Amino acid sequence: MSSEGTSYSLTQTAARKWRVAVVAAEHRERTKWSIELASFGTTAYDTLDALLDTVDEHEPVVVLLSPDYATEGGFRQIQRMSRSHPAVGAILCLDALVIETLQNALRCGVKDVTTVDADEATLRQCVERVAETVAEVARASTPVVSAGISETRGRVIVAFSTKGGVGKSMVATNLSTGLAMRGRKTVVVDCDLQFGDVAVLLGIPPQHTTIDAAGAIEHADLDLMESLLSVHPQTDLRVLPAPIEPSAADAITPEVMIKIVELLRQRHDFVVVDMPPHFDDVVLALLDYADDVVLVASMDIPSIKNLKVGMQTLDLLALAGDKLKLVLNRANAKVNLELADVERALGMATDFRVPSDICVPQAVNRGIPVILDRPKSNAGMALGIIADYFAGTAPGDEAAPAVTATPKRRWRRD
Ligand SMILES: Nc1ncnc2c1ncn2[C@@H]1O[C@H](COP(=O)(O)OP(=O)(O)OP(=O)(O)O)[C@@H](O)[C@H]1O
Ligand SMILES: [Mg+2]
Repeated sequence: MSSEGTSYSLTQTAARKWRVAVVAAEHRERTKWSIELASFGTTAYDTLDALLDTVDEHEPVVVLLSPDYATEGGFRQIQRMSRSHPAVGAILCLDALVIETLQNALRCGVKDVTTVDADEATLRQCVERVAETVAEVARASTPVVSAGISETRGRVIVAFSTKGGVGKSMVATNLSTGLAMRGRKTVVVDCDLQFGDVAVLLGIPPQHTTIDAAGAIEHADLDLMESLLSVHPQTDLRVLPAPIEPSAADAITPEVMIKIVELLRQRHDFVVVDMPPHFDDVVLALLDYADDVVLVASMDIPSIKNLKVGMQTLDLLALAGDKLKLVLNRANAKVNLELADVERALGMATDFRVPSDICVPQAVNRGIPVILDRPKSNAGMALGIIADYFAGTAPGDEAAPAVTATPKRRWRRD
């Protein structure tokens, strides 16, 4: 049989990363579904083979199959398709929901089922659900090597301080969210293995953690690693939370942590790592390995003193050198401390300043980073400047403007 390939609407397909097809032998069914799903730019075919002839190996497609495919022969075809075209996700339309048919459908790789009497809204929701999955599969299975250019090697940024409670996690979660909001493929890793709260700050229930990721590195399996990451729904930021059990942290050696980050940077423009407030071998290894060390200090004498002693102990200037960037958090605190005194004490200039802002704890309590929750607040804007700066340093991103403006001049002091 030949392909009909009737395109009912192409207007919206260009913006989408996936396409939608319907496959049915009967003309009436093809027409009905094509009209109901027309806004997806749906194309109709009379056989599955006719559709697959037009699909590239890694192309994400959602295909709605008629009840004709709920047979032994149909299931075999779907199974073959799942292997040859893993990014094609099938929705099988059934005359009625029968347990045995459902089980067979799931076993052969069908992503979702619906019934012939499903209304347009239900059908569209079903397509969108499966589209999310196929887009993800396509992204995970598309080789990153193209046109002779070597694979992606994202930038690794760690947020660090020698003192607790100064705003490391606030900076790490907002920076990573800000990068994702700017269209950069970003993952945030919670390296505070005992008391990490990145998942809480992002309002994400942790499913898999660094402990599971440690299992994936054994096989250097990028797809497996990708599947372990949680997704921040509003921004598409990927998240690798800390272990739920603090005692599990011992399983993460410096070598394991570096391998996790090494694997993640192959699929992301940025790997942002939130660090614990103490030194250990994992922290030292990451400070050495990172491209950028964002040093967070808050505007109070104990914090500055602690940071200074910590920097000297670590010989941080020698360890991290040029890659050090100083973020002064709560920089507007009225504590009779001059910026110049702080910079002199630390022996380095401030790169960014973030004001103390009530919107920060408010956003924390909502589980939404302030850069997303209140981008126009003082803290939201200051954090936006940091995200702009790093977004301009994405690997291979010549189009992005280099940020040369001194960020501190762009933020008004209270
Ligand atoms: N600029 C700010 N304005 C107001 N509140 C802030 C600001 N920065 C951080 N905070 C508040 O300070 C608290 C500590 O911040 P955060 O958890 O980021 O610190 P941390 O350095 O990661 O701490 P720990 O060392 O315990 O991991 C948070 O509750 C946050 O709401
Ligand atoms: Mg923290």
